[in-house]
Amino acid sequence: MDTHAKTAVVTGANSGIGLALTKKLLAEGYRVIATARSGRIDGLHHDQLTVIPLDITDVASTEQAVARIGQLTPGIDLLVNNAGVAPDVMSMAPPERTSFHDTFATNVDGTVFFTEPMLALLKDGAQVVFITSSMGLPSQAGPNGTAYRLSKAAVNMYAAMLAQRVADRHINVTPVHPGWVQTRLGGDSAPFTPEQAADGIFQGIVARPESGQFWNVETNAVMAY
Ligand SMILES: NC(=O)c1ccc[n+]([C@@H]2O[C@H](COP(=O)([O-])OP(=O)(O)OC[C@H]3O[C@@H](n4cnc5c(N)ncnc54)[C@H](OP(=O)(O)O)[C@@H]3O)[C@@H](O)[C@H]2O)c1
Repeated sequence: MDTHAKTAVVTGANSGIGLALTKKLLAEGYRVIATARSGRIDGLHHDQLTVIPLDITDVASTEQAVARIGQLTPGIDLLVNNAGVAPDVMSMAPPERTSFHDTFATNVDGTVFFTEPMLALLKDGAQVVFITSSMGLPSQAGPNGTAYRLSKAAVNMYAAMLAQRVADRHINVTPVHPGWVQTRLGGDSAPFTPEQAADGIFQGIVARPESGQFWNVETNAVMAY
């Protein structure tokens, strides 16, 4: 391990945007602690990569992952909360309880209750990125994906609130819209590849917008809430 490299943690790193961003961060010289529910990323090996198991809906799994990350690094420079689900994103149907529960358990409860204990492991001046969605902005409201939109609206609010709470530690918080991306979640019709999304997210990380501002990869700029 390169002890001088910046350390990033990426959740949901075995697929789609998380996988592409993990590869991008490794190529940019980061040491990456990547999480996957299975505890492995098939076919990706790198001397700066450690893969650990994490299911963000599971309290014990979350506690074990945070403890393991604390053993692996004395301080994190970048936390990317990427793991998410969208079972109703294509659906125009009225809200349905099962998909609501599953979506909120992952996107909201899971994201919040993984982030909170991770704050103690962040270096002062670190960055926290949320891979969220413009679908969760009231200005972008639409008739589909009720649970998904509401869950991302909650993440967007959490990011804005967290930015204020960690300001005294100079920790930057950036919610990011990655564009519509060809992944399991985004489907095959999406215009952007995961690699293009990862490049755009990395530009947002480098740009380091004012903490709490919403970064839109499609325009490579901050977007109004
Ligand atoms: N694709 C798009 O167009 C788009 C647009 C806007 C925002 N986003 C956001 O981008 C993020 C990544 O999505 P993606 O498009 O790359 O989809 P994806 O390929 O389905 O990847 C989702 C990742 O989240 C992980 N995950 C799901 N539930 C989890 C849990 N309970 N605990 C831990 N990890 C969990 C998945 O793990 P498994 O492989 O084990 O299921 C997978 O690694 C999501 O937050 C999504 O909302 C995507």
